[in-house]
Amino acid sequence: MAAPPSLRMPKSLQTLGFLMREMPMMVGAQRKLGDVFTIHVHGLPPLVIVADPAIVKEIFTADVTQLHAGEGNAVLLPIVGPTSVLLLDEEPHLRQRKLMLAPLHGDRMRLYGEAMTQITDEEIDRWPLNQPMAMHAAMQAITLRVILRTVFGIDDGARLAELERLLPVMIDLGQWATMVPAIQRDIGGRTPWGRFLSAREEVDGILFDEIRRRHADPAATAERSDVLSLLMQARDGNGEPMADSELRDELLTMLVAGHETTATTMSWVFERLLRHPDALQRLRDDLHAGVRGTYLDAVIKETMRVRPVLNFAMRRLTRPLRVGGFDVPAGWQVAISLALVGLREDIYPEPLAWRPERFIERPPETYSWIPYGGGVRRCLGASFAHYEMTTVLHRVLSRCELRAAQPASEMRRRRAITHVPQHGTQVVVERRLEAVGTTAL
Ligand code: HEM
Repeated sequence: MAAPPSLRMPKSLQTLGFLMREMPMMVGAQRKLGDVFTIHVHGLPPLVIVADPAIVKEIFTADVTQLHAGEGNAVLLPIVGPTSVLLLDEEPHLRQRKLMLAPLHGDRMRLYGEAMTQITDEEIDRWPLNQPMAMHAAMQAITLRVILRTVFGIDDGARLAELERLLPVMIDLGQWATMVPAIQRDIGGRTPWGRFLSAREEVDGILFDEIRRRHADPAATAERSDVLSLLMQARDGNGEPMADSELRDELLTMLVAGHETTATTMSWVFERLLRHPDALQRLRDDLHAGVRGTYLDAVIKETMRVRPVLNFAMRRLTRPLRVGGFDVPAGWQVAISLALVGLREDIYPEPLAWRPERFIERPPETYSWIPYGGGVRRCLGASFAHYEMTTVLHRVLSRCELRAAQPASEMRRRRAITHVPQHGTQVVVERRLEAVGTTAL
């Protein structure tokens, strides 16, 4: 049997389409070639795109020795370090993953509710009234501070400010450099790579110092609720704790994986909600009646279906594999299309319509609602992200009356590997209530 069909189009045009007009190209290819097809992009192995939930299930549950996700993330190495859970495969990956599962478990998230609400209040109080502002940037500020306080456990104001200054620089420059490896030359402090290295050195200095302080006072560390303190107390199957360098790598991993993704998803929620007055009204009515969760939950899920921040979950084949009746050779990548699966008409009638009610009528299914990926690589921060989004959105909508700054919807724009609202979700705050209480949801 042959490899999955591909577009009759030169590789250079497929590359251009993938970079400039990814979704139209994917939708067109799926229409022509079906739910499993190949695209060829310069600099990458052939990508087998999958958009069928039955095959998604096969891939997510396949043998971990046959499908690697870590190799494909190797470009992140300079930022997240060699022991990051994102970069590992098989046994080393499962070890890190198990150590991280308990601190990020759903039930624990309530402990962070108060900090999340307080951070949201501080941000809301800074917003201008009656003039356009970018909600995406505001959400980035919130998610960065939330991770630093609740995951890194930084409560010293000066250190917090220092990390808030350094980390965006380090991650922006680092992402840039990983996309264009040729600039990874340290020929002085002013080059992007030189600036990246010096920001990373400063960040590492602060993080290793935080880790040292906690080692110095184990009794106080055992009392703390931040993710770092819990990771320090976790033990693997051999009773071994994480090394300090592993702790540092996983902190950076959670920041890279969790900061921009959560901020962008919330920004899309505002973008969609403010163009659907009925949904906004229904949410407001719920909030005023003290009803928590259900509709907001559906609003978040529906937004993640139509505006996933990441388009693919990637796996590289270590051995040949049959995918949807086709033979895929070793070395090729299977790219599960989170975006195309979310737009399937047989599962989501009128797939382009934004209709949160569909998730109240029918809860999402494991292999057809997959914005957090799946299987042994499923997002480790899904509970954290969902709890944070619920808390922050609830607070903003309870305290602010918002409208979209312009009536037209904002399109999706690619920013490195994420897909963001093209104008940063421009909104106007028309009225703001004083903060009352900081009770968690
Ligand atoms: C709305 C926000 C988020 C979205 C949409 C998202 C999405 C994803 C996706 C698609 C993957 C890859 C899954 C796969 O390959 O099957 C992933 C992995 C991961 N995410 Fe998230 N994520 C979000 C927030 C977070 C947060 C807040 C954290 C940490 C606190 C986090 C930590 C991770 C980690 C550590 C992995 C790697 C898991 C592994 O390789 O085993 N994510 N995420």
